[in-house]
Amino acid sequence: MPRTEPFPPDGVGAVQALDPETLRRRFGREVGLLPLWIAEPQVPVAEEIVEALAARAAAGWYGYETRPRRVLDAFRAWMRRRHGWDVDADAVEVSPSVGTSLAVLVDLVTDPGDGVILQPPVFTDFKPIVRAGGRAPVTNPLVIEDGRYVMDLADLEEKAADPANRVLLLCNPHNPVGRAWTAEELAAVAALCEAHDVVVLADEIHADLTLAPHRFTPFATVTEGRAVRWAATHGPLKTFGLAGVCDTVVVTDDEELRTGFREASDRFHLTRNHVFGIAAFEAAYRGGDRWLDDLLDLVAANVARLEAGLPDGVELVRPEATYLAWLDLRALGLDVPELARWLALEAGLALSPGHWFGRQGAGFARMTIAVGPEVIDEAVARLVRAVGA
Ligand SMILES: Cc1ncc(COP(=O)(O)O)c(C=O)c1O
Repeated sequence: MPRTEPFPPDGVGAVQALDPETLRRRFGREVGLLPLWIAEPQVPVAEEIVEALAARAAAGWYGYETRPRRVLDAFRAWMRRRHGWDVDADAVEVSPSVGTSLAVLVDLVTDPGDGVILQPPVFTDFKPIVRAGGRAPVTNPLVIEDGRYVMDLADLEEKAADPANRVLLLCNPHNPVGRAWTAEELAAVAALCEAHDVVVLADEIHADLTLAPHRFTPFATVTEGRAVRWAATHGPLKTFGLAGVCDTVVVTDDEELRTGFREASDRFHLTRNHVFGIAAFEAAYRGGDRWLDDLLDLVAANVARLEAGLPDGVELVRPEATYLAWLDLRALGLDVPELARWLALEAGLALSPGHWFGRQGAGFARMTIAVGPEVIDEAVARLVRAVGA
């Protein structure tokens, strides 16, 4: 198990999850809330990363730095070691964030007004990214069947067949519903998108957080022998809790996408080569295995702990990936504003209410479970109390 000291550690300043102003705005209250709404581990970062950052800080020189080739090699070696995926050296571009990558890629492959297919309930940033670029979000909602989400492939085919819809924004694995899409499901998506000339942008930032016995299937691996166009986003930020020292990558075998991304990067100076970002990225991918294995054990244990403790009326949609628990609270019979109010004011929990992820998420809530077991116990106790009240 990783160390799970109280969060945040002493000396850390404006942690977004705890910022009083943000809490008041989002939850109508700033004290007494258990903050489990942001997708990041609430455990100390891997020692290898802390040491690398400390060593870099001690160097006393923070000027322009060229990214050594070995840094991206560490990413490629990690993908091979952890996921059996051989990433070509020429297929990787650096980007400051996933959001940046998706915005640039959507711009590259669509014109203003074109449709971008999303699969809600899905990560909150997707829709604003599409909208802000003057593109139209088109929904292919996921369907929940016997407590497990699946894609509606017939509906996806219909949306993909509309020539106005040029991109599918795929979340693989899926935040917030926790599905690790199987090779069969992804192959069906690839076939459909190939047939209708839809570009697949696969956000795979949660890849490393797949829970045994499930496996992460890189979208790239189901495209072999197909003419489907794709790009995928990766990076250590979700896995290792490095959102504040960010560096991510775009992987694509598509020459046009790669060139386009590189041109946007040159034009907007997207690769600043933050010296700490470079150090953290390399340390994570080179030496983070043991820490991640421990984290995955902690998350798996927390899934079981949560499931065992939840009161009647609250069901866990069991995650196959991510450290996010998607709670089904529909049995409580509360509408969207009532549920948000109940969670914050009655249960004292700052979770992400499901409607943040699209109206298909109404009646659900997302809870971060990369936390110490005592935090899960506290969250469960609060839910039990609030349901019984
Ligand atoms: C699916 C997904 N993509 C992207 C991000 C955020 O990435 P970034 O901060 O690099 O834009 C998150 C964060 O929770 C996420 O869940």
